[in-house]
Amino acid sequence: ISDEVILRRIFVLQKIELFSDLTLNEFIELARMVDEAQFEQGEVICQAGELGDTMYGIIEGHVRVHRGAEFIASLQEGESFGEMAIIDSGPRSADCTAATRTVLLQLHRDQVLSFCFQNTEVLKRLMRVLADRLKGMQ
Ligand code: CMP
Repeated sequence: ISDEVILRRIFVLQKIELFSDLTLNEFIELARMVDEAQFEQGEVICQAGELGDTMYGIIEGHVRVHRGAEFIASLQEGESFGEMAIIDSGPRSADCTAATRTVLLQLHRDQVLSFCFQNTEVLKRLMRVLADRLKGMQ
């Protein structure tokens, strides 16, 4: 990958709250491994009940979290989702749909977990996000 692509990806990665405490070297390392994906409005990103090993960070756009017709949450730029299946290797807890045209960063489970153990701030942030969402589900 060219230096230009790495720089552009670091710029984008800084938008994701989960990664706000990474060092420059960690940003470079992460920039080499992430993928970007675009979804059009209405496109399904992941579905409740399916297995998945990808976590997502929203770079642009809005994502609707729902279970069929039941609305759960709306997520925006800087927020992440898909962490639950990463943590328990179980099926997705909800459907996630692009509410607008959306640009996402995609990270594989192994990459997320290795970052969590390398930089405990990432782990703490991930646990905080998870706790907030579980509280909201009561
Ligand atoms: P996962 O279960 O892997 O896939 C669906 C995702 O929806 C889930 O991870 C969370 O990231 C997200 N999600 C589930 N419940 C909530 C909630 N109450 N608030 C916000 N996001 C949620």
